[in-house]
Amino acid sequence: MFFDILTLFPEMFTGPFDESIIKRAREKGIIEINLINIRDYTTDKHNTADDTPYGGGAGMVMKVEPIYRAWQDLHKKRGEVPVIMLSPQGRPLDQELVKDLSQEQGLILLCGHYEGIDERVKDLIVTDEISIGDYVLTGGELAAMVVVDAVARMIPGVLGDQESMIEDSFYNGLLDYPDYTRPREFMGLEVPEVLLSGNHGAIERWRRKEALKRTYLRRPDLLQKKILSKEELNLLEEIKQEIEGGKNG
Ligand code: ADE
Repeated sequence: MFFDILTLFPEMFTGPFDESIIKRAREKGIIEINLINIRDYTTDKHNTADDTPYGGGAGMVMKVEPIYRAWQDLHKKRGEVPVIMLSPQGRPLDQELVKDLSQEQGLILLCGHYEGIDERVKDLIVTDEISIGDYVLTGGELAAMVVVDAVARMIPGVLGDQESMIEDSFYNGLLDYPDYTRPREFMGLEVPEVLLSGNHGAIERWRRKEALKRTYLRRPDLLQKKILSKEELNLLEEIKQEIEGGKNG
């Protein structure tokens, strides 16, 4: 899968894409990341990529022509692919959307900056706007990195067996259960006995219950969306009773 990233700051991406799992996926050729500097598509001698807003007001607006020219080049090479603009006005990114995006053959990601982008960029080339959360970043670059990272790890072959996503948070609609590794005891805190028992059925039940408990306590909104199995419903009942018992006792 390819990710073509249109940005005024391509150097921001070195580091996150040159380490660990993403680096390995690029080396294996499973993903291809191309950084395109919008400034390379300016035509004046000052390489102007932004200008003051019509109607006045603070800040600068990214100009339409350089972005359009950069996209034309990509469009010739790639054909029809989604053009996603990162912005706080976009659709909120969640694991469902990540999964859908990972089915694409490639994505063009457009990183906004300054006060915004000339609206005609959206009219002409943007197919989707995505936000990574209800807060404002200085630009779309960090958001584009988040999208690439989350989408890339859904592509077969990107994660090794050790990093399987089957038990991920959100993959099955629940938060993760707690993990432990050696030592067995640290500063008086013990690893839960069941994890040392070798009883795979009991371990599986404990993990499911802990995942449900965390989700119930921290993100009840996720439980509303999930269809719970009979076993999960029973576990949830147990959890609620334990919590009620804790309050009364
Ligand atoms: N650009 C600035 N803030 C953003 C956000 N929250 N999500 C995506 N792009 C952004």
